[in-house]
Amino acid sequence: MKFKVPIFDVKNLSFSVRGQKILSHISLEIFNGEYVAIIGPNGGGKTTLIRMLLGLETPTNGEIKIFGKKIKDFKQWQKIGYVPQRASHVDANFPATVLDIVNMGRVSQRSIFARTNNEDKEAVHDAMLKMDILDLKDKMVGTLSGGQRQRVMIARALASKPEILILDEPNTGVDMLSQKNFYALLANLNKEEKITIVFITHDIGVIADDIGRLFTINQKAVICNNPKEALSCEEMSELYGIDAHLVHNHKHVH
Ligand SMILES: Nc1ncnc2c1ncn2[C@@H]1O[C@H](COP(=O)(O)OP(=O)(O)O)[C@@H](O)[C@H]1O
Ligand SMILES: [Mg+2]
Repeated sequence: MKFKVPIFDVKNLSFSVRGQKILSHISLEIFNGEYVAIIGPNGGGKTTLIRMLLGLETPTNGEIKIFGKKIKDFKQWQKIGYVPQRASHVDANFPATVLDIVNMGRVSQRSIFARTNNEDKEAVHDAMLKMDILDLKDKMVGTLSGGQRQRVMIARALASKPEILILDEPNTGVDMLSQKNFYALLANLNKEEKITIVFITHDIGVIADDIGRLFTINQKAVICNNPKEALSCEEMSELYGIDAHLVHNHKHVH
């Protein structure tokens, strides 16, 4: 473990906008094969942190390495699957089928004018199979439930065959019944497919059993290496104003 190169290696990261501190002195590492949750209150800076890790936002200070490379030298973005917050909020009349959407996940792998080849087709089929949406492939995406749409967006991210999957608030709009299946699918991706997962949420009540480590982000970061050890983690979360007694309640209580 000690000598392994982390997928993300973040040192002393800070971000301010117009003099307002959004994130300060964040240092963390995410290793291959991990399943980590990033929790924190709304406005705590979770999305901003992720956008910096993806090169979509430039830090005011600090250093980011991805797969051992400085972020400015990193080019293999297809290794990183990203489902942004609210990605699945599409208009009811959005003119695309599930298959169209998942196909978009292959675009970065080929020239936009190239036709889809067998490798594309296999990757798209495989992604839909993993997210259990093959039977929905010809449906218009706007007609699906929130939970189904979320799985479509994840399948799109999986279509590029990423090594790590970053999901920003993927549980919003997923009804309680679907949540359990949804977590089972994610756990399977992590355990069987060996995909590293970063699960971001403001709702500590939804943190699943499968999570290995917990990062609490509220301008600063508190890293909890063993969320199953209740006390220390609850204390940490409390420090950051999060409803910590929910940490071990795996049912969605809201
Ligand atoms: N580019 C930006 N310009 C201005 N404010 C920003 C920008 N990015 C983030 N913020 C502010 O940073 C804070 C953290 O936002 P965000 O990262 O979305 O938090 P979270 O995802 O934890 O809810 C919010 O107050 C937000 O308004
Ligand atoms: Mg956010």
